[in-house]
Amino acid sequence: MIDLRSDTVTQPTPAMRKAIAEAVVGDEQKREDPTVIALEERVAGLLGHEDAVFLPTATMANHIALKLHSRRGDVLIAERDSHVVVYEYGGAAVHAGLMVWGIPGQAGRITSKQIREAVPERTKEADQTASVVSLENTHNNAGGRVWPPAELADVVATAHELGLRVHLDGARLMNAAAALGCAPVEIAAQADTVTLCLSKGLGCPLGALLASSSALVRRARREKHLFGGAMRQAGIVAAAGLYALDHHVERLADDHVRARRLAEGLHDAGVPIDLEQVETNFVQIDLAPLELARAEALDRLRGAGVGLSATIHPTVIRAVVHLGVTDGDIDRAVELVPGALAAAPLTARRA
Ligand SMILES: Cc1ncc(COP(=O)(O)O)c(C=O)c1O
Repeated sequence: MIDLRSDTVTQPTPAMRKAIAEAVVGDEQKREDPTVIALEERVAGLLGHEDAVFLPTATMANHIALKLHSRRGDVLIAERDSHVVVYEYGGAAVHAGLMVWGIPGQAGRITSKQIREAVPERTKEADQTASVVSLENTHNNAGGRVWPPAELADVVATAHELGLRVHLDGARLMNAAAALGCAPVEIAAQADTVTLCLSKGLGCPLGALLASSSALVRRARREKHLFGGAMRQAGIVAAAGLYALDHHVERLADDHVRARRLAEGLHDAGVPIDLEQVETNFVQIDLAPLELARAEALDRLRGAGVGLSATIHPTVIRAVVHLGVTDGDIDRAVELVPGALAAAPLTARRA
């Protein structure tokens, strides 16, 4: 099967497995694992923060960050479809006691105006404090959309002006940087905490980092322990992260080129795709014009040998390009998907 369900399905490459096998390790809980420490220092520098803590998952990184920025009963402001709101099993509420105030975004982005409106809305009468804004770049449920840097800077400045801390869920931050052609630090340094995930486009089996000031990372290490996330010879996994930063960053641009080729090929074959939405490694297909139910569409695609997946939007499915996808896979997918969805080519539709 050509597996385009997610960029989390990647297998470690033989060279990454070699790096894992050769890793120098120690007891990470005692800060004795040189590979973990090297990865943390590297990512802190990459993201323009004083320190970073290595964690098993990006979900844990997000939960810890939100906890650091708030007191129980405070309000978290976030785009309504963002990962922290939709997919983290209420972790913001369970772990940090946060009340989530979801704002509808455009392409996954909320505005300064919406934040200004949300703060008094939630805090005036109840004397409840909005303490943190969480932003997502790239935005998963919007289809891998990227924040224009000026817009991100404006929202961060507004949040800070209002006394709110800013968490950036940058699980796919390296994709955003590749799409913008900028250094990751230009996106990440403005936020108070930043999550970077290793197990998506970077192709590691697991792992994430939370970067911030030394003071907040010190507190994050305590939270990591409380979450049961303090590990032992974790350098086995951190070695994959270091390998990925050396070898899997530049190639993210190839995923973006392949995603665009897939989108254009399918669009020309009549598959309903908004090409303007394709900014990184995601391609979203709207099934509504095809009058096809999501489950039926995914079944037919699987039967044809192509794995796509559902999104939060009932009529939208997605294909995600990653390091396990070749140019040949894209050619095959462009051949197979329109037939499986019974789409009519654009030329036939125009006739
Ligand atoms: C934007 C975003 N944040 C966080 C996560 C959580 O990552 P993990 O599965 O490593 O916990 C995901 C996973 O898909 C994601 O897309």
